[in-house]
Amino acid sequence: MAKFNIAVLPGDGIGPEVVEQAVQVINTVGEKYGHEFVIKEGLLGGCAIDSTGEPLPQETLDLCKSCDAVLLGAVGGEKWDSLPGNKRPEAGLLGIRAGLGLYANLRPAVIYSALKGASPLRPDIVDAGVDIMVVRELTGGMYFGDKGRVQTENMGEAAFDTEKYSVYEVERIARLAFEAAMKRRKKLTSVDKANVLESSRLWREVVVRVSKNYPEVELSHMYVDNAAMQLVRNPKQFDVIVTSNMFGDILSDEASMITGSIGMLPSASLGEGSMGLYEPIHGSAPDIAGQDKANPLATILSVAMMMKYSFSLDAVSEAIESAVVRVLEKGYRTADISSPQTTQVVGTKEMGRLIVGEIKSN
Ligand code: IPM
Ligand code: MG
Repeated sequence: MAKFNIAVLPGDGIGPEVVEQAVQVINTVGEKYGHEFVIKEGLLGGCAIDSTGEPLPQETLDLCKSCDAVLLGAVGGEKWDSLPGNKRPEAGLLGIRAGLGLYANLRPAVIYSALKGASPLRPDIVDAGVDIMVVRELTGGMYFGDKGRVQTENMGEAAFDTEKYSVYEVERIARLAFEAAMKRRKKLTSVDKANVLESSRLWREVVVRVSKNYPEVELSHMYVDNAAMQLVRNPKQFDVIVTSNMFGDILSDEASMITGSIGMLPSASLGEGSMGLYEPIHGSAPDIAGQDKANPLATILSVAMMMKYSFSLDAVSEAIESAVVRVLEKGYRTADISSPQTTQVVGTKEMGRLIVGEIKSN
């Protein structure tokens, strides 16, 4: 019997509710497939600020480092919005990504056939199918570059954030993206703004260089503005997209909506080893927190990614994913993915219970 330690950081807003359902799923697959998953909870984000004064307490980072994988809910909320940048809940999230060396963020946007009606795109566009893997660089670029406020001579106060990428950083994310493409349809689109940004020109040069080691992968380059348009014009043209931290943040939200709801998209953040951090791409949604309305599927699907990428339990991962498909096919929906044809709108807890039931009965 394999044993895995999982650090669980529920965070703020809807984080705790969706994580609770995901933990039920972890316990269920543990029992069913005979693995021991040990859950260890920690504080991150606003709740950590409230009880320790820090968005990422050292204790939480140490806990994560001692575990085999991390499951995260969401962080942030109005209550902490007026804190200085480095004391905000979001700083905790960035801190943990960097602190664990998780430079690659995989965000798969897949349209489930049961959910085609929930996509805001025309049926003839989504009928062609959407299956995109966004590979977002996660520990560099503008998120981590020099930033600050300065007094200018004649324009008053100014603020700046620096987009900076090293060859090393681009090489490692490019390699990971090519490897991902090799396991899929062997198409890679590198998204940049090389017509304007020097950092993008370096990005493009390095991606082209790395591509020489992957002759089977068809590489193309796209400016980010065009990519934003192409994603809604013809999402089927994309297989793997590799891009910077900032562009990836934006494009992955867009890609998620094509699939019906941001409440459906999981993510995996990976580094050199098997340790990974798994989280839904959605935020803490304070407006619906505590009301049993949030969609737990993105977090549950993040658990599926954890089983595959950190634990190499591919069959367990597939069992979770197919349970999600079956529950959707039976017509159950949370409010965010409900549409007029929907047979049953359910809450967070009921959705979790349905997934657990499907896993057990199959
Ligand atoms: C995401 C989120 C975060 C990010 C925020 C909450 C800091 O939007 O994971 O996409 O920008 O990376
Ligand atoms: Mg985002």
